[in-house]
Amino acid sequence: MPKADEIFQKRLQKHHDELRWLYMELYGNDSMFAELCDNLFRFYTERKASLKRRDKQREQNPDWFKRSDMLGMMLYIDNFAGDLKGVQKKLSYLSDCNVNCIHLMPFLDTPKGRSDGGYAVSDFRKVRPDLGTMDDLATLADSCHERGMNLCMDFVMNHTSEDHEWARRAAAGEGEYMSRYFFYDSDRIPLEYEKSVPQVFPTTAPGNFTYLPEIGHYVLTTFYPYQWDLNYANPRVFNEMMYNFLYLANQGMDVIRIDAVPYIWKEIGTSCRNLPQVHTIVRMMRMIGEIVCPAVVLLGEVVMEPEKVVPYFGTVEKPECHMLYNVTTMATTWNSVATGDTRLLRRQMDIVNRLPGAYTFLNYLRCHDDIGWGLDYATLKQWGMKEVPHKQYLNDYFTGRIAGSTSCGELYNDDPITKDARFCGTTASMCGIEQALGNGDQEALEEAIRQDLMLHAYMFTQSGIPMLYSGDEIGQLNDYSYREDGDKVSDSRYVHRGAFRWDLAKRRKDKESVQGKLFLTLRMLEKIRAKEPVFDANANVYTYDVHNDSILCIMREKSGERFFGIFNFSGGEQTAWMQEDGMFTDLLTGTQMELRDPVLQPHGFYWVKRSR
Ligand code: GLC
Repeated sequence: MPKADEIFQKRLQKHHDELRWLYMELYGNDSMFAELCDNLFRFYTERKASLKRRDKQREQNPDWFKRSDMLGMMLYIDNFAGDLKGVQKKLSYLSDCNVNCIHLMPFLDTPKGRSDGGYAVSDFRKVRPDLGTMDDLATLADSCHERGMNLCMDFVMNHTSEDHEWARRAAAGEGEYMSRYFFYDSDRIPLEYEKSVPQVFPTTAPGNFTYLPEIGHYVLTTFYPYQWDLNYANPRVFNEMMYNFLYLANQGMDVIRIDAVPYIWKEIGTSCRNLPQVHTIVRMMRMIGEIVCPAVVLLGEVVMEPEKVVPYFGTVEKPECHMLYNVTTMATTWNSVATGDTRLLRRQMDIVNRLPGAYTFLNYLRCHDDIGWGLDYATLKQWGMKEVPHKQYLNDYFTGRIAGSTSCGELYNDDPITKDARFCGTTASMCGIEQALGNGDQEALEEAIRQDLMLHAYMFTQSGIPMLYSGDEIGQLNDYSYREDGDKVSDSRYVHRGAFRWDLAKRRKDKESVQGKLFLTLRMLEKIRAKEPVFDANANVYTYDVHNDSILCIMREKSGERFFGIFNFSGGEQTAWMQEDGMFTDLLTGTQMELRDPVLQPHGFYWVKRSR
């Protein structure tokens, strides 16, 4: 047997029994399983030599993605650089940002005006023509790899666009394709589902079904009406989607973000979220990846409460996702910004810090989506706060309607029934940079910049991979031009999806400019993070009581070294009541200081390490 086959066979053998067991449990279909295995081998043989070398290296170093110098950035190709070739030309800018993992927002073919920001895919094997071609993608991946960068893309597996070939054939009445979705010829079953399934877009896309008058059927559409949910109870759907996954992995992806993964299995009478079969499927994907393309890691998009998120890591013996978004921490962070109270955030961090060190979270302040207020309301209730008025407060705060608030932004899916609005805006606008610039208020501007930097420093202090949102490195503001665009006007998430401001990015090395103040300090923080051992993934991390609810203090320890990140979430000067022996080095200025009741500026922070 040739050597290449041996490698594949060895990997297949490792997983075969479990993979077969799970497949049979879901589908009980031997011949479809055999077809799957044949295709795994096909994708393995099609994988190019340079990627196979990457596979080998990463099999020997499976924790490669946990290094403390990993820094991600998510960006829209068109907003950032026009097309894929444009991104290629801008790689040096991304290196200048210390970024070594680029998440390209959805770029596969999608119908204009019915795309949900690219999350309605009409062809999994074709790049949106105005953005380039599959060859451009593979070339970009090669260039990234040469520069030590990784590439991440979305795999939108819950649904296809209504323009996808399968959907078009289903709409034409072809039974084989109808069975790949959820079709019903009356509203009886849809109404049954509606009893227990919540809504994702209650105002922009109410309901979970769409009626198709041409064929007199209802189709399940959890998200927008043009995004048709795939039926993973059909093994043909699973197999074909796995082939799409492997095809994309073979273009040179390092990270594949599995979009909306909790939704992929449906059962009548349930919420159709996080069902056990979802975990079976993710576990199978993990094994399939390890067999064909072990260089690729899975990033699960699980925007759910913490107890629902963590199971997506699987177990140590049977892992599922390599990485998950730290979504509750993100939302709780903004809660602390609005309230100036860090108690809930501290609790949340304690929960995360107690989890097994093998779990890797992706930390972020902002992403392309809205911020949903998924907080720990049971705890807030004990402190006298109720869910609905609290959410109302947060939304009022961030829309700038509360005295003292400096934030600008827009509500998202403001549901008059549940009063469950979410929020959209860029970090800089939420921190007050937009308002201060508008008012020409220099002092407010300085504080807003300080808050923006404090939040980034705090995000970098967490264990896991920090992911920047493109534009945040130069303090990009909300972009209200989406209101003029008929395709976007109804979706306020576009307020933070503006075109990248290269004109402003030019000022990033100018210490006097807003851009420079942010960019240069972020770079310094990133460099410190990459080099100091206390930021290692396996450092011990605790929150530390400084007897002041406005301040969050995080301690990191590694190899006898002790680090404190101290963050003032309030707009007033605050004291961290702490007495630590010895001298500390302020890692940003290099100056020596004692840690005896340090005083922090409004929204200020310290990053200090005990001197030897
Ligand atoms: C994910 C994406 C979001 C999209 C949804 C539907 O949650 O982040 O932007 O609307 O999936 O695909």
